[in-house]
Amino acid sequence: MERDPQDRDSIQSSLRYLTHGVYVLATRRGRETSGMTAAWVTQVSERPPCLAVSVREDRYTHDHILQSATFALSVLREDQVDVATHFGDASGEYADKFLGIPYGLTPNGSPHLLDCLAYLDCRVLDTMRAGDHTVIVGEVTAGERLAEDHPLFYDPSEYEGALN
Ligand SMILES: Cc1cc2nc3c(=O)[nH]c(=O)nc-3n(C[C@H](O)[C@H](O)[C@H](O)COP(=O)(O)O)c2cc1C
Repeated sequence: MERDPQDRDSIQSSLRYLTHGVYVLATRRGRETSGMTAAWVTQVSERPPCLAVSVREDRYTHDHILQSATFALSVLREDQVDVATHFGDASGEYADKFLGIPYGLTPNGSPHLLDCLAYLDCRVLDTMRAGDHTVIVGEVTAGERLAEDHPLFYDPSEYEGALN
């Protein structure tokens, strides 16, 4: 039987070959910190350095980023699947996910993990709707390398049940 390349399953199985890192995307609105795991992240400009993160509209962190107009990405290490699961498995609407997690504040005031490879501090430049997600483009205004190790690559099979 011939395969249909426009079939949803065919598209999905091809998309799985795209490679992503895994990050904790976080912001601070007033005194409230919020953060979530994000894999759909990429650099989109060199001068100035800019990156884009894709955040589904119903994430608790979504509106907080748009309101604070700042966010930070903490780059996870290859052995930090548990951290990615912690920030990706439950909504910050019901619990402070930073409770008990050592974190610092970036120059723009966003929370970043102390135990990670590096953080990137961003201010929001632009947003655009893309299907059920918002693409948020941020200019990287600060960044600090905190450790020397291998980054975590996104493998959906490691997060069964934590992705909706
Ligand atoms: C490995 C992994 C990667 C994820 N990547 C994204 C992403 O790029 N964009 C997104 O909107 N949600 C992503 N999620 C889902 C959110 O992290 C998850 O829904 C989280 O609980 C949202 O938290 P919040 O409601 O406190 O903002 C990912 C989850 C995991 C486990």
